[in-house]
Formats: sequence, C-alpha cells, structure tokens
Amino acid sequence: MANHWFETVAIAQDRAKKRIPKSVYGALIAGAEAGLSMRDNTAAFDELGFRPITAGQPPERTMETTIMGEYASMPVMISPTGVQAVHPEGEVAVARAAAARGIPMGLSSFASTPIEQVAEVCGSTFFQIYWAGDRDSMVARMERAKAAGAKGMILTLDWSFSHGRDWGSPHIPQRFSVKELLPHVGETLMRPGYILRWLRKGKIPTLGVPNFNTDGGKPPGFFEAYGTWMMTPPPSWEDVAWLRAQWNGPFMVKGVARADEARRAVDAGVTAISVSNHGGNNVDGMPASIRTLPEIARAIGDDAQVLLDGGIRRGSDVVKALSLGADAVLIGRAYLWGLAANGQAGVENVLDVIRMGMDATMRGIGVADIADLSPSDLVVPEAFSPPAIS
Ligand SMILES: Cc1cc2nc3c(=O)[nH]c(=O)nc-3n(C[C@H](O)[C@H](O)[C@H](O)COP(=O)(O)O)c2cc1C
Repeated sequence: MANHWFETVAIAQDRAKKRIPKSVYGALIAGAEAGLSMRDNTAAFDELGFRPITAGQPPERTMETTIMGEYASMPVMISPTGVQAVHPEGEVAVARAAAARGIPMGLSSFASTPIEQVAEVCGSTFFQIYWAGDRDSMVARMERAKAAGAKGMILTLDWSFSHGRDWGSPHIPQRFSVKELLPHVGETLMRPGYILRWLRKGKIPTLGVPNFNTDGGKPPGFFEAYGTWMMTPPPSWEDVAWLRAQWNGPFMVKGVARADEARRAVDAGVTAISVSNHGGNNVDGMPASIRTLPEIARAIGDDAQVLLDGGIRRGSDVVKALSLGADAVLIGRAYLWGLAANGQAGVENVLDVIRMGMDATMRGIGVADIADLSPSDLVVPEAFSPPAIS
C-alpha cells in the first residue's frame, strides 16, 4: 500500500495542489490585495532564530496545556476556516483528527458541515461567529451551537471585505446549475481523483453555508450569507460586550492587532483573544501577527489567554510564538493542506509534524516545559516589531 505520510507542511501543500481543482486550491491560498501581510506572516517567523544548547538537553519534553478551559495535548488549535469543496468528509474529517490528537477545534460559521455533526465527533468544539444579521439571529446561532455541544464561542472581527487580489480570485459558482458549473468542468477533469473521492462518498460539493441558519433548515448559499454579513454595520466594543454577555462560557475575540484594542477586548469580558490578521486577509500591509504579539501579550498579562494565528507551518513556529508570549496558536492553511492531501489522516499527519517539530526544537534549546519558554530562547532582530501603541 502506498505510504501517504508527508514530513513537512510544505510537502502537504504541494500534494494538495496536485489533488484539488485550481479554483479550490486558489480559495485556500486566499489573501488580500498584494499579499503583503500574507507573505509577512511566514517571512516574520523566518527572521526569528534560536539559541540551542550543546549538552544537558532535557530527556523528556511536555507540551500539554488547556485552551479556554479545554484540554490540549499541545498548544495548538484548529482555526475556523469557511471553505467549501476541499474534501467530501470536510470538517468532520478535521474534527476527528483534532479529537484523535487531543486538540480543540474551531468551526467556522461559513464551514460546509453543520455544527451538530462536528461537535458529535469532537468534544472540544468552539463555534466561530461573525457580527452578521440582527441580534436575535446572532443569539439564535449561538443557542443552536450550545445545543449541539459547542464548548465556547469565537467572534471573528477582522474582515475588511477587500475586493481584489493581484493573482486573481477563484470563481465561486453562485449555485449548482449547469451554466454556473460549466467553467469548472475543465479543471475538474484535470483532477479525476478529486471527483472520484466525492462520488465514492455519494456526494457532490454543495457550497451551502449550514451554520448560518438559526435552525437546521435549508442552508443559505455562500453569497446570500456573505451578503447578510457585508450589509451588517460593524460592532462597537459595547456591542462586543453585549454579545459576550449572551454566552455563558468561554469566549474569544479573534483578529486583534493592537495592544490598546486587546485591553478593550479584556474589558468586554473575553476569555481569550487571538492576535491575527485573518491569515493575511484583513487590511493588506498590516504586520505579521507574530510581530505585534509581544506588545499585545504584555498589555494583556494574565487577564485573558493570548493566542496567535497566521503563518504557523512547523513546530518551531509554535515554539517561537510561545517564547514571545502566546499561550497557544491556531493553525489555518496548514491543516487545510493536510485535509486536501489526505483527508483525516492528512490532518493528523500535519498535527504530528507540528508536535514532532516542537519536541525537537524544545530538546535543542534545552526547554523541558512549554511554560518555561521565554524571549531569551530566541534571537530577535532589532527592528522585528513595529513601534508599540499604548
Ligand atoms: C481559506 C481560508 C478561509 C478562512 N475562513 C475563516 C472563517 O470563516 N472564519 C475565521 O474566523 N477565519 C477564517 N480564516 C482565517 C483563519 O482562521 C486563520 O486566521 C488563518 O488561516 C491563519 O493563518 P494561516 O493560514 O497562515 O495559519 C480563513 C483563512 C483561510 C486561509
């Protein structure tokens, strides 16, 4: 039998590119405008170095922790991604992998699988919502998630509805009509394995957004849900505090990029924040999240958990983020490449690669416990972070 194991996330990405149609691959690349922030998310990690020791490395390393009260076998969580048509098992495969490897899962309100099916296979599921629609429908979506067993909420606020990419956006069909699907026939024929995988499961990609519903009824289409979100005026911090008060449990605000706003989030009563630029999909030109992390972690102290997402591709990236003040990280494209490359096993493979990379790095730098990581474990260039905002 073929061995599908891949040893790095870069190899998973390469395999994904060969296995899925061009437009689906393009949707996973995503990014805004010139892609400056998207590239900086990974480039900034490359600027950080380590200070390994030569003897006396710890024989065992521990990386267990809790993320918003949920057990995590390592300080990594699945970031919510609203993507469609990647794999016939979709977010259920991701959730099974998360459960098998003992990490929490974030499920997007634009994901392709209903929360009920995901929470059933992963006990530590967090539901991600946008400020979209009226207040009653937001509360109803949260109540549906609670009934399904969601352990917490992730409110994502950093989306600026940028309209263009220098490399072009993939065409997303409005609906499953012959006319809409015709332009995709050529690229799909180039990937016969892709369509076979769907047919074997007796499915076709639907592009519905089932978690946007307040109940289990017929899901709106992608553009209908997107339109509702786009037409909703952005929330104030008072609105955020109101929404947080509607949820009795852990609550994260995702998409924080400034220390002053991190404090506003804490004042609104959050359990955690994620320092993020939406994987380079917010305002292009904003710095990589790892650059603003130290200032934000200092401003928050122990008042909430500090997560980071954007650019994590290896275990050593997780070690760098924790050394600069993160309690844990979220991963986005890394697991999407694993899912596209090899379904649930591919996501587990990505998580194993990250775990092994963390372990090897901690051994090399002589740190036995993630709680002991600090900036002194890194070589940080002088101009790494932008001037602090107080
Ligand atoms: C294709 C794609 C779709 C995404 N959809 C969502 C979403 O629906 N909700 C959300 O909070 N973040 C979304 N994100 C952002 C991710 O949760 C995360 O912040 C980002 O991917 C982290 O960067 P990384 O991909 O470099 O790990 C999306 C990102 C990508 C690449």
